Amino acid sequence: MGERTYINGSYKNILVSETENAGCLNTILIRINRPDAMNALNIELMGEIASVLTAADKDDKAGCSVITGSDKAFAAGADIKEMADANSAEIYEREMFASWDVIRKVKKPVIAAVSGYALGGGCELAMLCDMIAASESAKFGQPEVNLGVIPGAGGTQRLTRAVGKARAMEIILTGRMVSAYEMFEAGLLTKVSPDDKYLDDAMSLAKAICGKPTLAVQLAKESVLKAFDTTIESGIEFERKNFYFLFSTEDKKEGMKAFVEKRKPEWKQR
Ligand code: CAA
Repeated sequence: MGERTYINGSYKNILVSETENAGCLNTILIRINRPDAMNALNIELMGEIASVLTAADKDDKAGCSVITGSDKAFAAGADIKEMADANSAEIYEREMFASWDVIRKVKKPVIAAVSGYALGGGCELAMLCDMIAASESAKFGQPEVNLGVIPGAGGTQRLTRAVGKARAMEIILTGRMVSAYEMFEAGLLTKVSPDDKYLDDAMSLAKAICGKPTLAVQLAKESVLKAFDTTIESGIEFERKNFYFLFSTEDKKEGMKAFVEKRKPEWKQR
């Protein structure tokens, strides 16, 4: 089953807890917790998130993770103070995006529950997640141009794929803040909720996923992500292989048998 001590482990920059969902897998909640720095994402913090998500992947009881911040800030970007004195060689050698690459490869779904500022690296962390559920007053943006740099954690790529060239160019080149409703209409967000409900709504979404057979969920995630970096031809081939693969799982047998027998499936999670 994997080590479960990660849930109540002691972290410097995040809080981790678990919600038990009756009759299905659990949700892991990661709360970014640097209130004095608007939840700015330093290297250590990103390492902590990566290690929790890696452990959740190996935890048979975990179905889905949610990353949130405070009502005021999901995260106001990469930690500018950590980068302020670095030159090109230093920032290159620091490998500040190593944990981002780990998170990108996580198998189980991750939902961002965003309120307040999601700027720069904060917006990029939300986009690195599989879905974004936001509060009405959340503010997104890629303001790096105001610091003399550009997004460095995937912003130019993921925002462009999500909202299209016209909108992404304008958002990234002006560095302006964008409301949750505008981002929802542009296609970046899965859901926008009242400020006092966004986390509950993200947790409900996670719970719905926790009730599904985990291998099917993971391969569905992998297949959707494949659509971002391949041709339609090889994407369909990839999807088909995953579809065939799932026919060897216990849950495929149970899911189809339960349908035929007109009863609810009892997932075995294998
Ligand atoms: N890094 C480090 N510290 C930050 C921070 C950041 N990204 N954002 C805020 N803080 C700190 C502030 O320095 C301040 O600390 P002190 O009290 O020690 O001075 C504290 O958090 C509170 O912030 P403000 O006083 O600025 O709060 P505000 O309510 O007036 O403004 C804000 C809020 C609009 C979010 C403003 O803090 C802001 O513009 N932050 C920076 C946003 C930004 O430029 N993000 C991009 C970072 S670069 C990046 O992310 C690169 C990448 O792609 C990987």
